[in-house]
Amino acid sequence: MNQTFKEEILAGIPADKLPEAKPYDPEINHAPKRKDILSADEKVLALKNALRYFPEALHAQLAPEFAAELKTYGRIYMYRYRPSYKIYARPIDEYPARSKQAAAIMAMIQNNLDERVAQHPHELIIYGGNGAIFQNWAQYRLVMQYLATMTDEQTLVMYSGHPLGLFPSHKDAPRVIVTNGMVIPNYSKPDDWERFNALGVSQYGQMTAGSYMYIGPQGIVHGTTITVMNAARKVMAKDSQYVSGRAKKIADALPDTYRESSAKNDKKIADALPDTHCESPAGMLFVTAGLGGMSGAQPKAGNIAGVVSVTAEINPKAAEKRFQQGWVDELHPSLDELIPRIRLAVADKKPVSLAYVGNVVDLWERLADEDIHVDLGSDQTSLHNPWAGGYYPVGYSLEESKRMMAENPAAFKEAVQASLRRHVAAINRLAAKGMYFFDYGNAFLLESSRAGADILREDGSFRYPSYVQDIMGPMYFDYGFGPFRWVCMSEDPEDLALTDHLAMEVLGRIAASAPAEIAGQMRDNIRWIEEAGRNKLVVGSQARILYADCEGRTQIALAFNEAIRDGRLKGPVVLGRDHHDVSGTDSPFRETSNIYDGSRFTADMAVQNVIGDGFRGATWVSIHNGGGVGWGEVINGGFGMVIDGSEDSARHIREMLFWDVNNGIARRSWARNEGARFAIEREMARTPGLKVTLPHQADENLIRKTLA
Ligand SMILES: NC(=O)c1ccc[n+]([C@@H]2O[C@H](COP(=O)([O-])OP(=O)(O)OC[C@H]3O[C@@H](n4cnc5c(N)ncnc54)[C@H](O)[C@@H]3O)[C@@H](O)[C@H]2O)c1
Repeated sequence: MNQTFKEEILAGIPADKLPEAKPYDPEINHAPKRKDILSADEKVLALKNALRYFPEALHAQLAPEFAAELKTYGRIYMYRYRPSYKIYARPIDEYPARSKQAAAIMAMIQNNLDERVAQHPHELIIYGGNGAIFQNWAQYRLVMQYLATMTDEQTLVMYSGHPLGLFPSHKDAPRVIVTNGMVIPNYSKPDDWERFNALGVSQYGQMTAGSYMYIGPQGIVHGTTITVMNAARKVMAKDSQYVSGRAKKIADALPDTYRESSAKNDKKIADALPDTHCESPAGMLFVTAGLGGMSGAQPKAGNIAGVVSVTAEINPKAAEKRFQQGWVDELHPSLDELIPRIRLAVADKKPVSLAYVGNVVDLWERLADEDIHVDLGSDQTSLHNPWAGGYYPVGYSLEESKRMMAENPAAFKEAVQASLRRHVAAINRLAAKGMYFFDYGNAFLLESSRAGADILREDGSFRYPSYVQDIMGPMYFDYGFGPFRWVCMSEDPEDLALTDHLAMEVLGRIAASAPAEIAGQMRDNIRWIEEAGRNKLVVGSQARILYADCEGRTQIALAFNEAIRDGRLKGPVVLGRDHHDVSGTDSPFRETSNIYDGSRFTADMAVQNVIGDGFRGATWVSIHNGGGVGWGEVINGGFGMVIDGSEDSARHIREMLFWDVNNGIARRSWARNEGARFAIEREMARTPGLKVTLPHQADENLIRKTLA
């Protein structure tokens, strides 16, 4: 007899029988075959490791099956153990649970693995090509069973997808503590990940994938929108065609802000922005790549920001998925037909998103050959994972690449590096004619430099800025603005609409008395939340994101808590954020790339952050190696908090969100970032008990003279 959803969860891994084998579904977007990295002895170990999830009586049947998976896919996913029920975020009351908090975590896990949301759902990969939630389906089943049976006096401990077990704790402790990919630093090269993952002992949790906080591409649409909008403003402030009066004078007076961003320059530009805020970027051309998990947000963001965008995507399945979801307006498989369409769209000056279904290098080279003026350029192929399917080299079909990757990894690596050299050469030609190119946090600059592309200036720095150096760092993170998000556990769209409304009210109230330094950020976010419902951003659970500072996040969360208490909201709400935030992530080429005191290669901030969140009321916390820019390149952490209208929830909101934002502001202020200094002094003035060490400013001339 078929089990119900609840029965199947409670059964965990059945002890006495095998579930029915699941057919391999060719309609699903599957992870590429991983490289064959294990020695013969290590393969024995991988199988032994996999079988320890199952009673001995089943081993004779499972061993050959798992051996075949390892051979065919390079990993043991245990496909047979995929559940038979449909995976999606059900309303919280539908889960078998003794703890509401645990039920909310189940809902978040279900949402991550929803086929509409996850990139390779059957391989438990949520986004970014290798961003895993679990390593195999046995781990999934055990975790769901633990969550279904645990109480609020227990904590589930997660080691890279593997549930170590339930440990006694107390109601204010996190229900789940997640670590992903934490390894001894000397063993943090990409091949180490391949080996540990194939052995079944570690995983790449990306950011929100391994921390149950992915909400589909909406999560990134907002960040991408404000990035594209502010990049466009930079170009407008620079280009006399677009600006007039004060803004132009300031832009002219600036040194080349494309290359030398400093907090001071960015503030000058920000001051100039009110004049240009109303200017429209209509007819601006934005060219980029990737219609995958997060990169799929680019065309939508381009439309919201009001530009013409062209996004290359080599995988027709990924392109088609975004087209069907309405995230991109037009798919074009041929450059001959796309080029005149681009010219027409630019002349039309109406926002539209075009996709080229092909290799981005072919697109860049053609644009340069045709001498088409590109205003903004970027890239979101998964270059944090260049050798295992994150970046497909020009000159090879998708299938040829996949085959080469598995059968001849050395040749594949060479092809990727040659492709990157051509990629950069074409971008350089367009940049020489005025295109503003920025790295979008996918390790494009880093991997291109490693490939020997012409991407470095004489002093060894990159020719192009990262979006954090120029935009997100000085304008957002330093002031505490980051990607706050929430999910309505009733899964009722009416609840989401009410939370949008409450957030808008709160932000409107705060904006009325906000200082000039953050007025623009507040205004952009109010506009975003006003439009959010209309833009139909939900894919999967009833979730919303907006950028807010500490005051905004706290006041919005308290307003939700009140609405849950008095019944206006029909269920609890999960609060969280992307790891890509003020305090959560130490990443020298991304989140902390605008830290200039030499500390950007340290990871104290991210580690402190997750520890502090853990004892201030987070329902779950996570800390990861890797994420965004690659294994060994970043430490990032996040949290989830279930609020249920109680006084305990209000206390957790006040205490934990405060730390979660101000930890990073304090560090950024110590690094001498002006915006952060302003923000932390403002916070100290209104918060008794906060006493942050502030830097004295040394005179560099004095130092240079002393050292001369
Ligand atoms: N900084 C940020 O806020 C931010 C936001 C989003 C993504 N990222 C980074 O961007 C990257 C992409 O993320 P994702 O979740 O979309 O990954 P993804 O793997 O889901 O998508 C990348 C897409 O690029 C396509 N692609 C690869 N090589 C190509 C080529 N040569 N030409 C055309 N298309 C090609 C792939 O087919 C894939 O669909 C990651 O490295 C991620 O960390 C950063």
